[in-house]
Amino acid sequence: MRLDKFLSLTGKASRSDAGKVVRGGGVLVNGAPAQKADMNIDPDGDEIIFRGELVIYRKFTYIMMHKPDGVVSATEDDREETVLDLLPEEITRIRPALFPCGRLDKHTTGLMIITNNGQLSHRLLSPTRHVDKTYEFSVKFPLSDEDVTALESGVDIGGYITAPCKLILEPPNPDERGRAGKITLHEGKYHQIKLMMEAQHNQITSLKRVTFGPLALDPALRAGEWRMLTEDEIKALEKAGGISG
Ligand code: URA
Repeated sequence: MRLDKFLSLTGKASRSDAGKVVRGGGVLVNGAPAQKADMNIDPDGDEIIFRGELVIYRKFTYIMMHKPDGVVSATEDDREETVLDLLPEEITRIRPALFPCGRLDKHTTGLMIITNNGQLSHRLLSPTRHVDKTYEFSVKFPLSDEDVTALESGVDIGGYITAPCKLILEPPNPDERGRAGKITLHEGKYHQIKLMMEAQHNQITSLKRVTFGPLALDPALRAGEWRMLTEDEIKALEKAGGISG
């Protein structure tokens, strides 16, 4: 594999930045400064040090994206922009191909994991694993204490009673009392929160996912931005999915 491709796949530098760091002597291959960014390396056998830090090659790719409003959680779509369209070609070319881990509605923003690890994704989304996801929401009408109790206990969303969840109201100012908060679910039925609010004769006006299992949306990522997960984040995600090592 080319060294610049390796550095881009491991999230250390874009291909063009990789060239600059290599020219500045910032990359060591088996102890010797790399001469050229397009040199071939063995990702499994060679020791690559990037700016003093050992780079670990992983078989799978894991991306955290701050999904913006208006973009669909799909790999491709004839009409709409997808979360994959927001990634550069050098990333979308990765094989196995990347896909979003679960779905957020077109107008939901926030934390989206994009990976090509099908087994882990499947496990994280399995209802039996109870992986928590927290969303910040706002609704059209104030929620009463009775609404909160009903939503937390489970409401009927078209023939399905939702599992118990946690809801905290967080008024941004006294006038907004009951119109915003955080809801934590461990299941993910299609349009679940939207339908839960409709079951209480209310309407979601904004929805943003801020956590997914052990991961929190990186506040440094603005809407539409993304980064590779860190080693610690990957390990935490694997643990949440019941995969060790
Ligand atoms: N619930 C919804 O209604 N929409 C989402 O995008 C996620 C959860």
